[in-house]
Amino acid sequence: MSDPDLDLLPEFHTSVQRFDKGSRIPGWDRAADLDKDPAEVPDPADTEVPAELRAVIEAEMARFPDIHSAAIPALFAVQRRDGWCTPEGIRQAACVMGVTPAYLTSVATFYDMLNTEPCGPRQVYVCTNISCSLCGADELLGLLQEELQGNEEVNLRGFECLGACDIAPMVSVDGVYVGPVPFDEVPELARQIVAGEDPLPGRQLVKRPSADPKVSGSQATNPEGSDA
Ligand code: FES
Repeated sequence: MSDPDLDLLPEFHTSVQRFDKGSRIPGWDRAADLDKDPAEVPDPADTEVPAELRAVIEAEMARFPDIHSAAIPALFAVQRRDGWCTPEGIRQAACVMGVTPAYLTSVATFYDMLNTEPCGPRQVYVCTNISCSLCGADELLGLLQEELQGNEEVNLRGFECLGACDIAPMVSVDGVYVGPVPFDEVPELARQIVAGEDPLPGRQLVKRPSADPKVSGSQATNPEGSDA
């Protein structure tokens, strides 16, 4: 049976994963179970944490006056290692940070770029927000979905504004922004994603000397040092 809340949404939004009442956050309206035992910080004595993960998280904790600020980098470290924020990884990170797994889970379930369900390790986001949508993002997402259909290595999703509206329609491939992406370059982009190659190098935001296409390379400085 169709969800009446979802029926109210524009069609392109239905490709974004939705949970109860159209929310993107699972379980947001479920009441807390007050009969549960209080959450506990994992005991280092019985929580094995690989040295590499511990070192990354401790380095992040050292950067902030309040160690809670390291929650997102710690969760990203788990996601880089496991492909998603696994319960075991969250427990290990919580042990290093001296917080409860529930605290880190609450952060992980809030942020879209942290995955709390198993998914492919390659993160490919097609922005479907207003600027990209007006420039054909829905078609772009549909074409990429066709090209990457059945590939379990790739977590392809429609996404809200990724902050690069000037290169609409744009795609983020493991954090590398490319755009504008013409439809006829989608097969090549999909091939590069599957092969693990640099995605559309000539269209990467980081290689542009300036957001303004009228500024030539000699007039603008690229912070990454590239001379695209
Ligand atoms: S609307 Fe697509 S990056 Fe902003």
